[in-house]
Amino acid sequence: MSGYRGPMRVLSGIQPSGGMQLGNYLGAIRKFVELQHQYECYYCVVDMHAITVWQDPEKLREQTFHIAASYLAAGVDPNIATVFHQSAVGAHAELAWIFNCVARLGWIDRMTQFKDKAGKDKERASVGLYTYPVLQAADILVYKATHVPVGEDQKQHLELSRDIAGKFNHDFDADDFFPLPEPLIKGPGARIMSLRDGAAKMSKSDPSENACIFLSDDSDVIARKIKKAKTDSEPLPSEPKGLEGRLEAANLVGIYAALSGKPDADVLKEFGGQGFGAFKPALAELVVEKLAPISAELRRLEADPGYLQQVLRNGAERAAAVADPVVAEVKEIVGFLP
Ligand code: TYM
Repeated sequence: MSGYRGPMRVLSGIQPSGGMQLGNYLGAIRKFVELQHQYECYYCVVDMHAITVWQDPEKLREQTFHIAASYLAAGVDPNIATVFHQSAVGAHAELAWIFNCVARLGWIDRMTQFKDKAGKDKERASVGLYTYPVLQAADILVYKATHVPVGEDQKQHLELSRDIAGKFNHDFDADDFFPLPEPLIKGPGARIMSLRDGAAKMSKSDPSENACIFLSDDSDVIARKIKKAKTDSEPLPSEPKGLEGRLEAANLVGIYAALSGKPDADVLKEFGGQGFGAFKPALAELVVEKLAPISAELRRLEADPGYLQQVLRNGAERAAAVADPVVAEVKEIVGFLP
């Protein structure tokens, strides 16, 4: 974190571009819950990132509530952590513009997520999708966040945030004005793969409806998706080494391990030698056991949009009280008149 001496702060965000899925839960939200007791935490619903690809406005509002409700249902306490939607705090967009002028084209050109999302037809992708990681850097640094809990797919974006912070500090001779934020990625669940393809990450936008488990899925749907999960025909090995090259098997064991809190080796001690006919029902039972209380709470909260609105408004006020002075200082550093 270089010589930065400010307070330790955590920021992270999830896009309201679809339902909350198991990868978001294991890779991100579970860490949000743990961290709120150790640090000052800011958890936002990144609606401005979501519109980098087309979103139906009515659905976007619903999904913003859904992601906020999922934070709370999983255990984020809005009286401890600050929960808000990104578009309600104008400082993110203001800082993003200044960062657009700090970040270099060559840096953004290297971002693999843009290449994946834009596909072959990049001429038709939005400009926002291209500068997406610059806005992400602004989300983080507008709170001078020092730690960012994310899944593994966000590693490159976090490196870019550090580069932008470092270049800003250097260009304006503003030693350690911004911290170099540390990604918090490690741990089981940092990379959950699709149930249909062990080489693709689990994603809410996967076209195959059986690829992804949503927090809102009921127990029958979860059991069906796991039953249909792609596997090979070998029994499970009794040691993690035996999972090498068996992407789908490794993913299912990894999900079991992440949810049970046991290392892969212990899971394989229990299930090694058994086929998927035995392992899949045990996995389905565990997923249902862990997700059912969260999805029940999620449904309860979603039925009360008035409460969610209140949480988001309060959160936005608290967030702006931290972010606005940082942007005011940045403007002065850059040379804008007050
Ligand atoms: P999003 O909505 O795509 O993902 C939200 C979080 O979930 C994690 N994640 C996964 N983790 C493990 N396995 C998976 N299959 C999986 N799929 C998703 C992501 O790594 C992420 O932590 N760009 C961010 C949103 C963002 C952000 C920020 C994050 C915007 N501003 C500032 C941190 C700080 C994203 O990927 O959203």
